[in-house]
Amino acid sequence: MKFLAVATAVVSTLLLATSNVEAHVTANPSVGVSGAYFQTNFRVPHGCEGNATDLVIVEIPKNVTSVKPRATYPWNTTINMIPLAVPIVTPTGTVNMTVGSVTWSNGNLADNMYEDFGLQFKLPQIIGPLYWSVYQHCVNGGWQNWTNIPDAKGATAGFPAAVITISNTTTTAPGASPSTGGDNKSAAVASQIFGLGQVALVGAGALMLAML
Ligand SMILES: *[C@@H]1O[C@H](CO)[C@@H](O)[C@H](O)[C@H]1NC(C)=O
Ligand SMILES: *[C@@H]1O[C@H](CO)[C@@H](O)[C@H](O)[C@H]1NC(C)=O
Ligand SMILES: *[C@@H]1O[C@H](CO)[C@@H](O)[C@H](O)[C@H]1NC(C)=O
Ligand SMILES: *[C@@H]1O[C@H](CO)[C@@H](O)[C@H](O)[C@H]1NC(C)=O
Ligand SMILES: *[C@@H]1O[C@H](CO)[C@@H](O)[C@H](O)[C@H]1NC(C)=O
Ligand SMILES: *[C@@H]1O[C@H](CO)[C@@H](O)[C@H](O)[C@H]1NC(C)=O
Ligand SMILES: *[C@@H]1O[C@H](CO)[C@@H](O)[C@H](O)[C@H]1NC(C)=O
Repeated sequence: MKFLAVATAVVSTLLLATSNVEAHVTANPSVGVSGAYFQTNFRVPHGCEGNATDLVIVEIPKNVTSVKPRATYPWNTTINMIPLAVPIVTPTGTVNMTVGSVTWSNGNLADNMYEDFGLQFKLPQIIGPLYWSVYQHCVNGGWQNWTNIPDAKGATAGFPAAVITISNTTTTAPGASPSTGGDNKSAAVASQIFGLGQVALVGAGALMLAML
């Protein structure tokens, strides 16, 4: 079974997010603590109508300002930066870019296999679901864009986005692992951004398209 054993506080939200866990792109683990360092894997569970997957793009949500991707051989792993609408002045200089997406390309993931695409990052200081759009491209030229978020009734049509449920208690984070590999500069930039609180980021999607 791939269902995670998750503490009870967020189970109802999580059940919505992980129904049909075998069929959808999911974050594993998918429960973390507000403001904490976090590692998760975006699991691509199948290809497109029998065709193998050759490209995966994970769009980084606003408020996640720095990521370290897991090198997933033999895929090419690329961090795509996008400009900040409002540059941030720090003691060591002006920051005018932030991370928009991570691309794993030149792979060949058979339809009957799965792969995990890992990211390490600091969770934003919010409580609740954080949705991650994942774009999957296959060798037949087809796309499966996992971008849909639940409507007011909790139902998600089509291809649901991956979700990480953020809480403010450490008791609900079986998968969260403290990171010692963090990069101090990024952490400083992140705290600056969180401190300012209202940085307007350019839409990652538009730029991501430009980068394809
Ligand atoms: C690949 O997808 C196409 C539809 O785009 C389908 O016709 C074809 O059978 C698929 N190939 C395999 C090997 O399943
Ligand atoms: C980013 O975080 C701020 C609070 O720190 C919050 O008000 C805002 O809604 C967040 N934006 C997104 C897209 O989550
Ligand atoms: C992708 O990886 C291949 C082989 O590992 C390498 O030759 C190629 O230069 C890489 N391409 C990019 C854009 O990094
Ligand atoms: C960001 O700053 C660098 C110099 O630090 C500059 O070369 C670049 O053009 C700037 N980019 C944007 C989008 O403002
Ligand atoms: C999926 O996303 C890609 C990349 O953004 C885009 O080119 C494609 O048109 C999208 N396909 C669908 C069906 O939304
Ligand atoms: C955690 O969040 C809940 C609501 O989401 C709030 O009632 C509670 O006071 C928060 N606890 C702490 C320690 O911030
Ligand atoms: C990061 O900062 C801490 C102190 O805050 C320091 O001990 C550590 O050596 C720094 N790490 C790097 C890689 O600079």
